[in-house]
Amino acid sequence: MVLEAAEMKRIVAEAAVDQYVKDGMNVGLGTGSTAYYAIRRIGQLVNENGYRLKCVATSVQSEELARGWGIDVLDLDEVDKLDITIDGADEIDPKMNLVKGLGGALLREKIVAAATVSEIIVADDSKLVEKLGTKAPLPVEVLRFGHQHTSHALKRQGCEPVLRMKDGKPFVTDGGNYIYDCRFPNGIENPFFIESRIDVTPGVVENGLFLNTAFEALVCDPEGNLTRVSETVKRD
Ligand code: A5P
Repeated sequence: MVLEAAEMKRIVAEAAVDQYVKDGMNVGLGTGSTAYYAIRRIGQLVNENGYRLKCVATSVQSEELARGWGIDVLDLDEVDKLDITIDGADEIDPKMNLVKGLGGALLREKIVAAATVSEIIVADDSKLVEKLGTKAPLPVEVLRFGHQHTSHALKRQGCEPVLRMKDGKPFVTDGGNYIYDCRFPNGIENPFFIESRIDVTPGVVENGLFLNTAFEALVCDPEGNLTRVSETVKRD
């Protein structure tokens, strides 16, 4: 039996919620089509099992989804820290470093991840890569002011930045910024170096590299088998 992508996402998201979310926790809600299933499961725990959770969302979209399923959503500053965040990813390398942000929520996702004790990534196995930047472009959120100048500076890091569009207009993030999707022709050789260069580029608000951030990446293959990337990871 070969599972559809949506079924792989549901299986892995529900497994992560069932394993990691405990009554009384502060929980971060990710963004994207895999996080969708995690939020739905968390809604079941709240409504059917009576869990008392304090939840914080990584996007307006996830906040609306969560409220629709009867989950109270707090501002991040209403909690000291989050015990768990369950979020998706666009790429996962063998060191459990990530590219995130194709869903446009990288800025809040990174702030929420930084406030989280255990960041749990859920994905289908199409997200596994040997080298970051080989399947997905690297999303970089930039201020609208002077954004073309910012893109020229990004290009000097060896990538091809493309302004993300939606309905014929530049895509605007929850933070009111633009995103450049930066394609590296041979992938990202040294993500730590590239991150440090991008971060000091004037106009850059945040980049989609999530390095040494994940506590666990749970991945589902088309047969429905779950793999824990943490079991084989060797960090820098
Ligand atoms: C959102 O900005 C992204 O970081 C998502 O976590 C990522 O795009 C994964 O989304 P899917 O689960 O829909 O693939």
